[in-house]
Amino acid sequence: MSETETKKESEKETPKISNQEFWSKLWSLLSESRKLIFIILSFTVLAAVLDLVKPYIVKVVVDHLTNFNKEDLGFMAILIGFFFISDQARSWVSYLNNVKILKLSVDVEYYLAIRAQKKLMFLPLGYHEQENTGNKIVKIERGVNRIITLIENISWEVVPTFIQIIISLIVLFWSDYRLGLPLLILAPLFLYLTHRTNKQMSPRRKEMYKKYEEASGKMTQSIININAVQSFVQEEQELNNFDKVKKDIQKNEHFQWSKIMRSGLMRNGIVDFGNAAVLMIGIYLVYQNEITVGTLIFAFTMSVNSYSALFRLSRFYDRMEEGKEGVRRLMELFSAKSDLVVKKNAIKPCDVIGQIEFKEVTFNYGGSKKSALNKVSFKIEAGKMTALIGPSGGGKTTIARLIYRHYDPLGGQVLLDGHDLRDYDLYGFRRFLAIVPQEVEVFDVSVRENIAYAKPDATQAEIEAAAKTANAHEFINKLDKGYDTLVGERGIKLSGGQRQRLGIARALLANPKVLIFDEATSNLDSQSEALIKDAMAKIAKNRTTIVIAHRLSTIKKADKIIVLEEGEVVEEGSHLELAHIKGGLYSKLLKLQELGEIKE
Ligand SMILES: Nc1ncnc2c1ncn2[C@@H]1O[C@H](COP(=O)(O)OP(=O)(O)OP(=O)(O)O)[C@@H](O)[C@H]1O
Ligand SMILES: [Mg+2]
Repeated sequence: MSETETKKESEKETPKISNQEFWSKLWSLLSESRKLIFIILSFTVLAAVLDLVKPYIVKVVVDHLTNFNKEDLGFMAILIGFFFISDQARSWVSYLNNVKILKLSVDVEYYLAIRAQKKLMFLPLGYHEQENTGNKIVKIERGVNRIITLIENISWEVVPTFIQIIISLIVLFWSDYRLGLPLLILAPLFLYLTHRTNKQMSPRRKEMYKKYEEASGKMTQSIININAVQSFVQEEQELNNFDKVKKDIQKNEHFQWSKIMRSGLMRNGIVDFGNAAVLMIGIYLVYQNEITVGTLIFAFTMSVNSYSALFRLSRFYDRMEEGKEGVRRLMELFSAKSDLVVKKNAIKPCDVIGQIEFKEVTFNYGGSKKSALNKVSFKIEAGKMTALIGPSGGGKTTIARLIYRHYDPLGGQVLLDGHDLRDYDLYGFRRFLAIVPQEVEVFDVSVRENIAYAKPDATQAEIEAAAKTANAHEFINKLDKGYDTLVGERGIKLSGGQRQRLGIARALLANPKVLIFDEATSNLDSQSEALIKDAMAKIAKNRTTIVIAHRLSTIKKADKIIVLEEGEVVEEGSHLELAHIKGGLYSKLLKLQELGEIKE
């Protein structure tokens, strides 16, 4: 399958979110803050009503001024009092509202970030392999950011202005229906124009968000692999690749905003026309003595306010639509489903014996047609040492991953103590396994914390004992700060062999029932390897040990050796049995290595 076809396959897996679903999904995302949202909405309505009071008082004052009486002075004083009180009430309401809105955005930032991290932690390896780190980070950061902007915009601007426009319309009609007509006709036209511009831009926005993620992905990749970049003098090349994506984004953004600005000009035209129309109609009505000057001023103020509100509303709509794409991408991450289904009444074992069986297991990675494992069957006895060997790409690491149930087989079964792995609670059985992977993953914390990763409450004595067995204690003591030395990102400050020994100590401390070594000694010198080999024999006593190794000397003592080639089991037996199969793969490999050793 070509790369693009595989890509399409993976895109199909993330559910797309339609426009209608968007709002209901957003509502359910914010379920923890619903009460707060209702409070904010009530404050907003109250503020909009209070906004009406001032222009109305001005109208009454002007009406009285045009026909001024001394007796009115007291009444005027009361009106001014009201003016002051309504102003104060307005500022208190907006203060309380702002406090609530800010609480809402701080809360949302907290729980969405937690939820995103939780989602990522529990999504299976298969999901993580489809997308690189930078993409995921930008998806979450931008998504959470955009949701917060969306909330702030909606609470501060969209809802208040919307209410303001509705109230203005009602009041204008109440003053005189002819004063309300321009707004009634122009507002929908205005909104339609805004909506159309945004709809036209939607595909470009989707494209842009994809590019944002791509750019972050590229940047992360070149930083993570900086050693390779600099060693192969590819700094310029990396920069060019990044520049290309960033230029696309730049072009796209320029295009979008200039289109929005142009549409803004048109929208402005509508606003100016509406204001002129109200003024004209108003003056005509005063001239006809149908309304008072106060009403004209009131109507004109309301109209100017609501047109500017309309304009603001449309600008926020632009920004909201822009942000929606980011939110949508985050929602897609939230709704990504794990392909690993855990049954409701799954087994949560208190202990395991450690017997593993592969029955006719077939497995393909990520929709690729080539099988990584093809009808593989074998048994791994409990408490014994089993070795997996064979040429590179044969499927050894894949077997280790299937034992962990990082993936489910396409066909056949993987059994632990006679039960299909799919019958177990995922975290229930993984507790009893430990692996020293081909590439030991080291966190940027101290050596001690790295070793105690699976058992954070381990005592110093336990940690040291594990390190001694892993032949790591000596080198750790020689480090600057011993067990407290920080090892850098991905253990960059350690040598390959040191990282491996740290990985072995970590796995030992976890004290598992099934222990898997995937090329755990490949980076060690002969002396260290010999020491670890002895340790392995000791460790293997009370547990099932699976050793994957290229160097056959490491696995001579294994109770059983399984030889894999191109995803199939080709030979199976003890060292002696396999060594005697004439023309067998194992004996061939053995001969080659013996020759190598003589040469050495
Ligand atoms: N994450 C992955 N996505 C797609 N294909 C993969 C993935 N991991 C491994 N493969 C492919 O699956 C096949 C088996 O790989 P596997 O890692 O199991 O081999 P291996 O026997 O461990 O090899 P080595 O001795 O080099 O470690 C290979 O052809 C490899 O290209
Ligand atoms: Mg491997």
